[in-house]
Amino acid sequence: MAMTIAFDVYGTLIDTAGIVTALEKLVGDRAGIFSDLWRAKQLEYSFRRGLMQNYRDFSVCTSHALNFCCETFQTEISSEDRASLLESYRYLPAFVDAEQGLERLKSTGCRLYAFSNGKPDDVRNLLQHARIDQYLEGVVSTDEIKSFKPNPAVYAHFLRQAEACGSEAWLISGNPFDVIGAISAGMRGAWVKRSPKAVFDPWEIQPTITVGSIVELCQSLGIDDQ
Ligand code: 2OP
Repeated sequence: MAMTIAFDVYGTLIDTAGIVTALEKLVGDRAGIFSDLWRAKQLEYSFRRGLMQNYRDFSVCTSHALNFCCETFQTEISSEDRASLLESYRYLPAFVDAEQGLERLKSTGCRLYAFSNGKPDDVRNLLQHARIDQYLEGVVSTDEIKSFKPNPAVYAHFLRQAEACGSEAWLISGNPFDVIGAISAGMRGAWVKRSPKAVFDPWEIQPTITVGSIVELCQSLGIDDQ
């Protein structure tokens, strides 16, 4: 049976640091650390809302995290500029290795899905704009069960939607918390470690495999792409 592969979106197929260019115009050379804090807070808000069972969609976490960063950096960003930043977040670029990696996997007959905290329409638009939607069979969103990664229920939701069995399905993610969440929920997990400096959480759970890019996946998963 064809292998089922769930691709995380933000931080795996799509580069959240793509917002740095837009931020540079507003916060200059603090754009990099602003972007890192924005992303960290966005995820923290999703974790907290998941635990609190006080669901608001991922775009709300993104917006509240932006407000937190503006206050932290004591930066006056006008409401127009905030709206424009949030709009830019809807059109972030794909990582350079994403298209080639997806194309290769698709050509081997794997069933590829996007699996994200983002709302289905937001994810579809993002992938379409980044021109990688054509390689994916569909989008599965945690919004469909009003929770966030790494609640085990969201990985179970993915498996149900993809009609796949956990022990044979893969989650591919650049986010260690997501890889750990998927493995803890019974899936296999590949960590995309694009930077040699990236650190995997030193828990008792390790990635099933680690790759440097999505292009390496075919070989590392033992799939013949000839
Ligand atoms: C995603 O679900 C975790 O942001 C990541 O797309």
